[in-house]
Amino acid sequence: MPQRILVTGATGTVGRQVMAQLVEIGVEVRALTREPVDLPPTVEGVRGDLSVPDSLRAAFDGVEAVFLVWPFASAEGLEMVLKLMAATRRVVYLSSAAVRDHERRAERLIERSGRQWTILRPHAFAANALRWAEQIRGGGVVREPYGQAAMSLVHERDIAAVAVRALTQDRHAGSVYELTGPHSLTQAEQVRVIGEVIGHPVRWEETSPEDARRQMLARRWPAAAVDGILRAQAEMTLGPAPVTATVEEVAATAARTFRSWAAEHAHAFEPLVRDE
Ligand SMILES: NC(=O)c1ccc[n+]([C@@H]2O[C@H](COP(=O)([O-])OP(=O)(O)OC[C@H]3O[C@@H](n4cnc5c(N)ncnc54)[C@H](OP(=O)(O)O)[C@@H]3O)[C@@H](O)[C@H]2O)c1
Repeated sequence: MPQRILVTGATGTVGRQVMAQLVEIGVEVRALTREPVDLPPTVEGVRGDLSVPDSLRAAFDGVEAVFLVWPFASAEGLEMVLKLMAATRRVVYLSSAAVRDHERRAERLIERSGRQWTILRPHAFAANALRWAEQIRGGGVVREPYGQAAMSLVHERDIAAVAVRALTQDRHAGSVYELTGPHSLTQAEQVRVIGEVIGHPVRWEETSPEDARRQMLARRWPAAAVDGILRAQAEMTLGPAPVTATVEEVAATAARTFRSWAAEHAHAFEPLVRDE
C-alpha cells in the first residue's frame, strides 16, 4: 500500500470523499488546494494550482500515488504536470463516461505516462441534483427541459470507494472503470424521489430547450457548453441509462441508490417555510 497519497480536487465532491476514506483506512494523505482550507487533522495540506505546474513541485514531492481531478475543458498542461510526478508510481484519474475530446486526450497522456494508471469513468453524479436545491426550497417546482432524460446517477462516496481501491491495491492497474448507480432514473423521477425523501411534494415542470438555452447564455455560460449539455440531455430521453456492476465488483459493496443520496442531502432541499 502506498505510504503517502496526494489527493487533488480535495475540496470537491469526489476528492473530499477520497480524502476522508483514505484517512479512515490509515493512509497518509496530502491534499492539494488552491486556498488554505480546513482539513481533517491528520491530512497534510499543500497549496498549488494545477494550471501552474511550477506551483506543484512541493505537492508531488515524495508521494507514491495521486488521485487526479483535471477540472479543465482542455488537456493542455497535463503532460507537464505528469512529468513533475517523478516519484509517483500510480495515478488514478477521474475522467467521465461521456469521454469528451479533452477527457480522451487526458486519458491517453496518463496511459502513456509510464506510471501505473486506473481511469474512472463515472456517469452523472447524484450530487448534480443540488443544482435544483434553490427551486425546490423556494416552491417545490423544478422548471427545466428534458424531464424524461434518464441517468444512472452515481453517489460520490461510491466513486471514492473505487478510487481508494485503485489507489491502494495493485490489481486495478491498467483498468478503465465505468461507474454508475444501481438504477436508471429520469429527471422527473429524481425530483419526485427528492420530494418523497423530504416529505414535501416536488413537481417537474417541463420547459422548452430554447428557454433553457437562453437562461444559460444569460448566465454567461459558453454557447458550446450549453449546446453540449442540451444535446446530451436530448439523447438521454431515448431510453434508460446503462447500469454497470463495477462499484460492487471493485468496492465489494452495493452501489448506493439515488434515494439514499437524497436522504443524506435532504437538508439542502428542505423548504424554507413549511406549509404544515
Ligand atoms: N458532475 C458530473 O456529473 C460528472 C460526471 C462525470 C465526471 N465528472 C468529472 O468530475 C470532475 C470534477 O470533480 P468534482 O465534481 O469532484 O469536483 P468539483 O466539486 O467540481 O470541484 C472541483 C475541484 O477542483 C479543484 N480545482 C479547480 N481548479 C483548480 C486548479 N486550477 N488547480 C487545482 N485545483 C483546482 C477545486 O478546488 P478549489 O477549492 O480550489 O476550487 C475543487 O476541489 C470533472 O473533471 C468532471 O468532468 C463530473
